[in-house]
Parts: sequence; C-alpha cells; structure tokens
Amino acid sequence: MIKIAPSLLAADFSILGKQISEAEQGGADWIHLDVMDGHFVPNITFGSPFVSSVRKCTKLPLDVHLMIEEPDTFLASFRSAGADIITVHQETCPHLYRTIQTIKESGSKAGVALNPSTPVATIQEIIDDIDLVLIMTVEPGFGNQHFIKNTLKKIHEARKLIDHSKKEIFLEVDGGIDRNTARLVIEAGANVLVAGTSIFKADSVQKGITSLRTAIKK
Ligand code: DX5
Ligand code: ZN
Repeated sequence: MIKIAPSLLAADFSILGKQISEAEQGGADWIHLDVMDGHFVPNITFGSPFVSSVRKCTKLPLDVHLMIEEPDTFLASFRSAGADIITVHQETCPHLYRTIQTIKESGSKAGVALNPSTPVATIQEIIDDIDLVLIMTVEPGFGNQHFIKNTLKKIHEARKLIDHSKKEIFLEVDGGIDRNTARLVIEAGANVLVAGTSIFKADSVQKGITSLRTAIKK
C-alpha cells in the first residue's frame, strides 16, 4: 500500500491544527515536517517546539525531514518532541553510521535523504541499517518546485538496492509530486509520496489526497 505524507510546509500555519485534522480525515498516512536551518538549505522553517505542537494535533506518525547541518546535535530533541521517523541528509553526515545508530537507539525509525546530485551508491554500505530512503526529486529548500525527471533513474536504483537488501525499507520521494509525477515515481518503485502544494493548495486537503490516490490507481 502506497503511503501519502502531506508536507506541512505548504499548509496555512494560522490554522495548523485544522489543516492537520483535514489531512488525517482525508486519508493521510504520515505527516511530513520539513526542518530547515538556513545553512544546509537557503531557507528557515521551524524546530522541535513546532514538532511538539503538531504531536498534540494528531496520532499519525510524524515524519521529520532534517535539512540541517550537524543534525546529531538535535536528534534527541526531535525525538522527545514526538518524531516517529527522523531522516537526515547523507550530505550533512560524515559519520552516517553513527548518526543512524543514534536515531535508532532513541526509538525512532531512521531515514537517509539524497539530494538530486547525490548517487544512490553513497548509501550502499548502510542500507541494511536504515528504515527509509528519501530520494529528493527537487533541490531541498522550498515547496512548489518542478519535479526533476532525472531522479526517476535514482528511484529505480534505490528500489533495486532495497529489494536486494531484503529488509523492510520505505522508499520515499519528496518534491514536485502531483497527480502526473506520482504515477511515474510509483512505477519507478517509490512507496511513500511526500506532497505539499498538490495537497494543501488543492481545492480542499481531502481532494488533494484523493486526487493523488486516484492517479496512482490507474
Ligand atoms: C522541499 C521539502 C518538501 C516540500 C515539498 O525541500 O523537503 O517536503 O515541502 O513541497 P512540494 O510538494 O510543494 O514540492
Ligand atoms: Zn521534505
């Protein structure tokens, strides 16, 4: 079953609780939270207090995507805030094995994200240790960007790596996912779709989620 993870980056923060309930009632599987530090990516969003507030609004798993330098410093605080899945970027972690172990020891699932220009081979040695691979289908930092088609090849490669490992590992994609690109990434092997604009800027949150689900059924 394909999971849909609405990204709160595109939500209206002035009515955040309502937007989260709409996502939950509309059939969201996870809630995706984009943490940005203004260093690793040229944008700043929110930190662990925001995650704590979201935690109070929903029982859905919180999928926390850390686009920050030196994520090790913050892992414990995001876990205490209620993160169920913590994803770090390969590009920010020189000691990726240790970072992954720290996340898992905290009781959270561990994910590793790859920027569009980072090869899948960079996670080959740690694939058996992780719960999720996140293939960025745009450069991280902003919502509402165009899907980069060359990343489809990487989704295929990541699917092969995961199948070869024989572990249960999610293959998530993030950036520019709408009813057209959703079909392409699913065909390439993804099983978790992150979507901001196509859900929160749709006529309604429910319509946005339904439209993605319908697109991938065809
Ligand atoms: C981008 C973020 C995404 C973003 C996706 O850096 O990681 O999660 O919110 O937004 P859309 O779906 O609008 O491309
Ligand atoms: Zn994200």
